[in-house]
Amino acid sequence: MQHDIRPDALFNNEDSNTSANPHFEQVLGARLNRRNILRGAMGAAGLGLAGGSAVAANHGKQAGHKAGGALSTLGFKPVAKSVADQISLAEGYQYQIIYALGDPLDARTPAFKNDGSDADFERRAGDHHDGMEWFGLSANGRPSEQYNARGLLAVNHEATTDEKLTSFFLHADGGKASLPRRADEVEKELAIHGLSVVEIEARNGQWAYQPASRFNRRVTAMTEVELHGPLRGSEHAITRYSPDGTLARGTLNNCGTGKTPWGSFVSGEENWNGYFFRDAKDDERRGKDDRQVAGLNRYGRKAGAASRHGWESAGEIDRYQRWNNGALGMSARDDYRNEMNSFGYVVEMDPYEPELKVRKRSALGRFAHESVSFAKPVAGQPVVVYMGDDARNEYLYKFVSATKWDPKDARPANRLATGDKYLNRGKLYAARFGGDGSGEWLELSLDNPALAQYKGFAFKNEADIAVFTRIAADAAGATKMDRPEWGGVNPRNGELYITLTNNSTRTPERTDAANPRSYTDLKNGKEQKGNVNGHILRLAEAKPTDRGFQWDIYLFGAEAAADSSSINLSNLTDASDMSSPDGLVFSPSTGICWIQTDDGAYTDQSNCMLLAAIPGQVGDGGKKTVTHQLADGSSRQVETFVGKTPTEATLKRFLVGPKDCEITGWCETPDGRAMFINIQHPGETTKMADVGNPAKYTSQWPANAGYGAGKRPRSATIVITKKDGGVIGS
Ligand code: FEO
Ligand code: CA
Ligand code: CA
Repeated sequence: MQHDIRPDALFNNEDSNTSANPHFEQVLGARLNRRNILRGAMGAAGLGLAGGSAVAANHGKQAGHKAGGALSTLGFKPVAKSVADQISLAEGYQYQIIYALGDPLDARTPAFKNDGSDADFERRAGDHHDGMEWFGLSANGRPSEQYNARGLLAVNHEATTDEKLTSFFLHADGGKASLPRRADEVEKELAIHGLSVVEIEARNGQWAYQPASRFNRRVTAMTEVELHGPLRGSEHAITRYSPDGTLARGTLNNCGTGKTPWGSFVSGEENWNGYFFRDAKDDERRGKDDRQVAGLNRYGRKAGAASRHGWESAGEIDRYQRWNNGALGMSARDDYRNEMNSFGYVVEMDPYEPELKVRKRSALGRFAHESVSFAKPVAGQPVVVYMGDDARNEYLYKFVSATKWDPKDARPANRLATGDKYLNRGKLYAARFGGDGSGEWLELSLDNPALAQYKGFAFKNEADIAVFTRIAADAAGATKMDRPEWGGVNPRNGELYITLTNNSTRTPERTDAANPRSYTDLKNGKEQKGNVNGHILRLAEAKPTDRGFQWDIYLFGAEAAADSSSINLSNLTDASDMSSPDGLVFSPSTGICWIQTDDGAYTDQSNCMLLAAIPGQVGDGGKKTVTHQLADGSSRQVETFVGKTPTEATLKRFLVGPKDCEITGWCETPDGRAMFINIQHPGETTKMADVGNPAKYTSQWPANAGYGAGKRPRSATIVITKKDGGVIGS
């Protein structure tokens, strides 16, 4: 979601972490020699060789479509920053728009008029395209890992423009932005959230989505889903809809994605908390001893706070009342006091099987999930998953499965049953970062005395930890981070990269080694403070199941002209400067690390962008000291570890998007010759009052690029190819 200085970013910058956890863990022990530890961990039998073969193993196998292998240098010229309402792309590349908000997903749904009169969004592309994964098909429509010209895109539809009650571009007159909401408007808004699966195909080099494909699918905020893991059947899952706590409805604010080692799609539910309402008396009604009250407050749902779209106000029927999560009935079976507990998970879907219900994987914890990154699975070892909680001062998590990996499961007959096997039982950990470049994964279980004896919450069982994961991580003493967003595992060496997009509440006093910056930046003469531009952290573990790790900061976002001793610590240039890294994906075919921005801080100079990087490894740079001036006039020094300074061969801008968009989602064909990304919420800062005046829209993309009717801006998927047919980035 958006950078926090955007005026309408009301619900996606939650800051409910009032725990006393350190922003900086004082390290009392002797300073360790990081480089030697790294050599020990990553040495001769280490990850470099295995990782290299992982890249090789993913190459397209189709004759004449071989990928070029892992790239060691970026072959294109950098793209200049731009504030134009168009896509700027590296020279020698071209793009096509293939799938936008409202596009029909079956033959009987009419073409999208894009004037606010359209309905039937359960059978159209949803809004705010976000994370996205490729699921290949063969020429005759069977699942394929090699064929490059036909496939399914599984797409997250995170949210809608805007966040103040009405999704105004969907309604002819902008809709009714006061309570109670109109039911017909709410119905559209329920339907444009969730997921979609859409078939795409290339014929003679032209890609198009297939409106009549049997694979096309929508999952909305109302679609029935199954609860799995410790939440299933627990007291936290009981509602009027599901008295036995096994079912729920919908998935919300699906942000980042991942692909499981068994070939299914996983998606993170991020800013779901703002969709609920409970009245000001709800805490009192529930009573002091109701543990749900602590949970609701820790997850940003204070009694009396307004909901994001006011869906609960649209009528007395169940589909609207479910958004009122107050304790209003005799028991949890009579109301929706527990409805919010059915959101905040990683959800798993099999894109090849449209009739199978989505499964919520509660063992992976409940928080503002961003993406889902799997370590390369190893036969006989647990499956390991890395995840970030994107809210200010929240944590980084890891899940280690109870079941050991069986390579036969890479191509299972039943993907979701395989998901049950690996994702329903395991242990969660939260990260603590040390000031010496080391770190530790803290176990979130009752075996950890810090949880078992925690005064702030009485944890009794695994379901409590699965549902109130943030509180468990508070208890364990995890490090508060600058909004952990997407993660990616480098196929070259197995290291984890995680974007920390920004943090407006990081003060100089609360800086630490892993979140070392807090400064003042100017945008159009206005001050913005904290970690304004974000950074990208990386972790090296000898084995993904290890409790210890080494870390450094691969890259600091900054303006090229900013002070290089306190802000532009990675010495970014005009070819690479950026703000608020968010999406991050390593290409399986080339090993390029693609970085996408979700920025509101540097948008006076450039719209959001996509950069390509070829990073090295943890420890390839050096130590830097950042000096902060404190409010009381004293100064404070923070030591951090910065990756090797990038060059134009290893980091540069590849694309700049249209106005007011965020660049999201990334996937490619197996040969690395077609790359898909999403342009999310172009024109997002348009005022609702201007909905009738296209000249005042801050963006008219993609209509101004020749796609579709009307002038209202639409989120959309584009495909990028090299004009000479080569591998992207070469
Ligand atoms: Fe949906 Fe954290 O971005
Ligand atoms: Ca995001
Ligand atoms: Ca600035």
